Amino acid sequence: MPPQDLANDQPNPYRRPEGMSAEAFLDQKVQELEDRIVELGPENVACFIAEPSLASGGVVPPVGHHSSTLEVCRRHDVLYISDEVVTGFGRNGAIFASEPVYGIVPDMITCAKGLTSGYVPLGAVMVSDRLYRRIAETTEGRIFANGFTYSSHPVAGAAGLKNLEIMEREEICAHVREVGPYFQAALKPLMDSPIVGDVRGSHLMACCR
Ligand SMILES: Cc1ncc(COP(=O)(O)O)c(C=O)c1O
Repeated sequence: MPPQDLANDQPNPYRRPEGMSAEAFLDQKVQELEDRIVELGPENVACFIAEPSLASGGVVPPVGHHSSTLEVCRRHDVLYISDEVVTGFGRNGAIFASEPVYGIVPDMITCAKGLTSGYVPLGAVMVSDRLYRRIAETTEGRIFANGFTYSSHPVAGAAGLKNLEIMEREEICAHVREVGPYFQAALKPLMDSPIVGDVRGSHLMACCR
């Protein structure tokens, strides 16, 4: 069974090779990303898309994963896109997890689900000031154009605005930050089960392996 790094309670990818530390595992994964970008040729890689915390496929990468992968992307001028479809709007105790929880400012954030709490279908994409400036400064003959049939639909927009208003009024993010540690602590005893190898998570996201 892989070692359990419970002493410092850090996120601990359960399936790393036996005997490998979480730090070495992180270094290996980051190196794999850089190697792949180099192999493909950075000029052929438009972007790297990652969930701040992969919901159905992992939950909580090792500490430092976000800043290290962002550094790799910056080094090769590859855009970094945070998919916050799951992590956005409260699940991690913030409207978006990327900056307040994981300390990175991505070039773009995609989101949906919690944007309207699911009452009306609505998705959105945001671009950073850094990227916006590069698009806005586009030279003559190059323009950026984008649109969908239902872009900026007023019904979905109204649902999103009302949802955000309610989240603020009811202090949902603060509530998640308060109950999150309790939720994580309450799950830890599952480790005592012989069929559970690892329990980890962040705020109101968790997984058992
Ligand atoms: C993290 C994440 N990204 C993207 C999607 C797909 O979103 P959509 O169906 O709005 O394209 C999902 C759907 O569950 C998701 O969980």
